[in-house]
Amino acid sequence: MKLFRDEERLSPEFVPSTLPHREKELSLLRSFFSSLLSGSSPYSVRAVITGSVGTGKTSLAKLFGQQFERDARKAKRNVVYVHVNCRINRTLFSVLRRIVEVAQLPLPRRGFTEEEVMHRLLEHLTENDAHLILTADEAEALLMEEGAEPFYFLSRIGEETDEPRLSVIVILRDIEILERLDSQTRSSLLGTAVHLSVYGYSELLDIVRFRAAEAFIPTTVPEETLEFLADVSAERGDARYAIDLLWRSGKFAEAEGSSRVTAEHVRKAMASVYPAITRGALGYLSHDETVALLACARSMRGDKAYVTSAELFEAYRLICEERSWAPKGYTSFWETLQTLQDQGFIRIKVQSEGARGRRSYISLPGIPSVLLEAELMRVLDSPRA
Ligand SMILES: Nc1ncnc2c1ncn2[C@@H]1O[C@H](COP(=O)(O)OP(=O)(O)OP(=O)(O)O)[C@@H](O)[C@H]1O
Ligand SMILES: [Mg+2]
Repeated sequence: MKLFRDEERLSPEFVPSTLPHREKELSLLRSFFSSLLSGSSPYSVRAVITGSVGTGKTSLAKLFGQQFERDARKAKRNVVYVHVNCRINRTLFSVLRRIVEVAQLPLPRRGFTEEEVMHRLLEHLTENDAHLILTADEAEALLMEEGAEPFYFLSRIGEETDEPRLSVIVILRDIEILERLDSQTRSSLLGTAVHLSVYGYSELLDIVRFRAAEAFIPTTVPEETLEFLADVSAERGDARYAIDLLWRSGKFAEAEGSSRVTAEHVRKAMASVYPAITRGALGYLSHDETVALLACARSMRGDKAYVTSAELFEAYRLICEERSWAPKGYTSFWETLQTLQDQGFIRIKVQSEGARGRRSYISLPGIPSVLLEAELMRVLDSPRA
């Protein structure tokens, strides 16, 4: 029995043509950039989008970019939107390289400093009378990797040329991370912020209804199933979880040859997925994070609740040895554990143990280690890794 009309529309990368319940935020974002279209006295824009997991930050920015490029074409202006995920491009240099790639600048791959790349980019934009909007998505990764410097750099973009050539959108889950920046950089980024609040039940219901209508053959997902889906996702307020469940429920229904997607399929989908390892989430981990998390999963095998960081480091070195990778030092490994904690994969508990000093205990909240290990092995063995 065929249930899906277009399954791809539920993939993590797909950007829907509209975002129900984000209309206000979308028009707010557009209003920040309106000077670029009206043209009377355009200026460089710096905006921040914040919101917790699955509140639609990435989709909002990408949809804005698509629509803005289109509107610019109509207004006979050359605007290019480039979306860079800083979890993949973790340094300012690599972000800039990514822009060069997308903008197809004739620049050799090596031998350029950040300033030189930026200079060439601005030159190219001026020659083509173009304006570039850069979105730095998951910008926390940039901050972790290089501190405040990239933000300082990005916040001053556009000051060099007579005409504004570059605007920046920074996406962060938590705005508080910006406290690590100096106040001038922070205020220049914070001038225009869009905050996305978590979705409630009725919003999630509208969202899954709309996404189901796009992805499934009409009437194959009854209203009752949609209500149940919205209900079970509402606690987290995370649209990614809701969409992932919708897709998985459809797969379960299809595999059973059912003519409809029912609540039972949703329950099966729920049992098969752990929120932290929804499709896509693990793929964004850096190589070091993937290996460190694998070390955690392995060390927790055999019903262990906690392991010490020293035990973990041993497990990590063993994995590196198996695969002939050079292991990182302990300090760097410890930093990787911190980033895994920040992303909610692990929990670190530091306990003072009298004369023996302090010890760190690591646990895996809510993901069975066997499942996590299997998923991570899949990621490591896939061609991208
Ligand atoms: N208002 C909406 N309408 C339809 N689909 C939505 C809406 N909001 C989010 N989604 C869908 O939910 C999923 C998660 O959204 P998105 O990736 O934009 O969230 P995010 O805030 O960037 O999450 P993260 O912090 O994990 O990066 C995507 O599949 C997206 O298409
Ligand atoms: Mg995102």
